[in-house]
Amino acid sequence: MISQNTIDTVFETARVEEVIGDFVNLKRAGSNFKGLSPFSDERSPSFMVSPAKGIWKDFSTGKGGNSVKFLMEHSQFTYPEAIRYLAKKYNIQIEETEQTDAEKANTDIRESMYLVSEFAAKYFHDTLLNSEEGKAIGLSYFKERGFTNETIKKFNLGYSPETWDALTKEALGKGYKLEFLESTGLTIAREDRPFDRFKGRVMFPIQSMSGRVLGFGGRILTNDKKAAKYLNSPESDIYHKSKVLYGIFQAKQSIAKQNNCYLVEGYTDVIQFNQAGIENVVASSGTALTPDQIRLVNRLTKNITVLFDGDAAGLRASIRGIDLILEEGMNVRVCAFPDGEDPDSFARKNSHDDLVAYLENNSKDFIQFKASILMGEAKNDPIKKADLIRDMVASISKIPDRIQREVYIQECARIMDISEQVLTSTLAQLIQKDIAETNKKQKQEQKPFEVFRNQPPKAGTFSGGDPEDPRTGPPEGYDYPEDPGYAGEQVQKVDILYGFERKIIEILLLYGSVVEDFEDVFLKADEEGNVKEVSEKRKYKVFEKIYLSLQEDEVELSNTLFQDIYNNIIDFYNQNDAFSLDKYLMHLQPEFAQEVTNILMEDERLTIHNWEGQNIFPKHKSETIEQNVSETIFSMRWYLVSGIIAELKNSLLNDPKEDNSEVLSMVIDYSKLLNNFSKKLGRVVVPYH
Ligand code: CTP
Ligand code: MN
Repeated sequence: MISQNTIDTVFETARVEEVIGDFVNLKRAGSNFKGLSPFSDERSPSFMVSPAKGIWKDFSTGKGGNSVKFLMEHSQFTYPEAIRYLAKKYNIQIEETEQTDAEKANTDIRESMYLVSEFAAKYFHDTLLNSEEGKAIGLSYFKERGFTNETIKKFNLGYSPETWDALTKEALGKGYKLEFLESTGLTIAREDRPFDRFKGRVMFPIQSMSGRVLGFGGRILTNDKKAAKYLNSPESDIYHKSKVLYGIFQAKQSIAKQNNCYLVEGYTDVIQFNQAGIENVVASSGTALTPDQIRLVNRLTKNITVLFDGDAAGLRASIRGIDLILEEGMNVRVCAFPDGEDPDSFARKNSHDDLVAYLENNSKDFIQFKASILMGEAKNDPIKKADLIRDMVASISKIPDRIQREVYIQECARIMDISEQVLTSTLAQLIQKDIAETNKKQKQEQKPFEVFRNQPPKAGTFSGGDPEDPRTGPPEGYDYPEDPGYAGEQVQKVDILYGFERKIIEILLLYGSVVEDFEDVFLKADEEGNVKEVSEKRKYKVFEKIYLSLQEDEVELSNTLFQDIYNNIIDFYNQNDAFSLDKYLMHLQPEFAQEVTNILMEDERLTIHNWEGQNIFPKHKSETIEQNVSETIFSMRWYLVSGIIAELKNSLLNDPKEDNSEVLSMVIDYSKLLNNFSKKLGRVVVPYH
């Protein structure tokens, strides 16, 4: 592992504008830099970098963060990869932390396996390009398939000689251990005569997302029907077939940028597409997609287009696996090639433009596709048709978004010639069952005060995230609609609690370590024994005051992302006597980056659209920090309590009991409390609920 020391040095050294400047053309704009978003195809710049804060914000997509987060988003690096990249850029020596012996042994084994795989890939590649045999057999084969030198380099293709131990001998001679040649499956040991697994094949190295060689596919060159066409590396500590996608290393950037991923079956499909100028393509290597593979793509895009060979048998089999993709909340499209063609042959025969046009014109939504294919077979068979309808509805129920489900129901009804009502009620049953199960689970986990846990944001609220997708939960991004009307009354009412919670985070970030006088209210007995409420000014750091108040009320932030950020900030304050925002941002966790930068770059957002100038967002800041904090806390308390009252009243109305006295007295108690808050807030407030 990289030591914390190195990570700190990297953060202290890296300048956000320099790191991003390597990828985006930045122009000065006041104290900030501006540029075209690398995440969308925009014409007017909405990508801002703040050297002072050390962060960036892309207002076109909502993404934002520090230097590391940029590399993770832009180049699809993992966190350690981004740190290593920056260390290299700034010539910082990477210090690795001490590991336990067991950890070390384990990393050593895996590392040795990576190294020998790396070596083998290089050996195969060199042999292909430079040896007589490689050129005559391997290279000419690839040339015959139409691969250019550039393509061969890009995919690091190779050739394994027709000698029984060529690689093994070479590797052993270079000091690689037989143990790792065996555990990676490159060498097969039999008695004391180890031999090469891939003898006499052209080689396709399989790489991880970050480009490490994990294993190989080797294709036979003869048309021997008895021998397997492809031989693949066996499962090992570094190669898990179900967790990798061929081509993902070459494709990741393009997938993110195009916001779509083409899924094909084979190595050659991926390669031929790349050569045709379509880079956002990966292969499942001939098997059905696994959830792990889907998640790999899901990190990069929500959209996947599955490409099918032009034969019906394979098609029917693959349809089954696609529900899995829907379940992950991804949008699935499918495209079939003409009979007898696979993506490889089709891409080879057609120009780039024709290929792009074909994909565009023939990609169909999965649900429509499935319905139309299966309908052909079931049309005249009522039993089959009923099965198909259930099957379709089951697929649709997997889709997390309600509106999208609705659209599919209409579409299905049309294709299958059945009424929408029947489909809708079947769907409702399935979903009801689903909800009942989830509810049961949640009930068991609920704590008493969690009545207030916010509902997941609904489409149309300004609670951020993907408003289309209630299951992605609270915000990935506090997405402001382009329409400045978000500040209007109506929208604000929808998610008031969200606003308070966001405000708390903002205050913590900006003023957490400021010391202020706060009013403490407590009960005190006077000489005569009368208990009275007295208040006293006391000094607190802002973060302490907020923390104590929420503790006292036993309130957790309803938005889980905010709660995580909150915990993280409070921890940070507790661990760092001299808290500075700079320092916090340096260590900002990638998953918080988007939300935190939203809050901090609010001002920049306003300048970019010049809304401030048009007075659409009148700036309202409280007079003092103390007022700001107290008001926020009281308003939130008040909001929560008025929520309780509303619920109690509701239960009186809807669920009247013979003896209501208990509930009534609760309503009275809470109302008193509410009055108290109103006084504290120094104004009369109208209930929100
Ligand atoms: N595959 C495999 N073992 C086999 C056959 C296929 O592992 N015996 C995997 C390979 O990853 C292959 C994919 O399934 O790329 C698709 O198979 P196929 O369409 O037969 O191979 P192509 O990629 O089309 O190979 P080629 O064009 O070279 O025949
Ligand atoms: Mn093929």
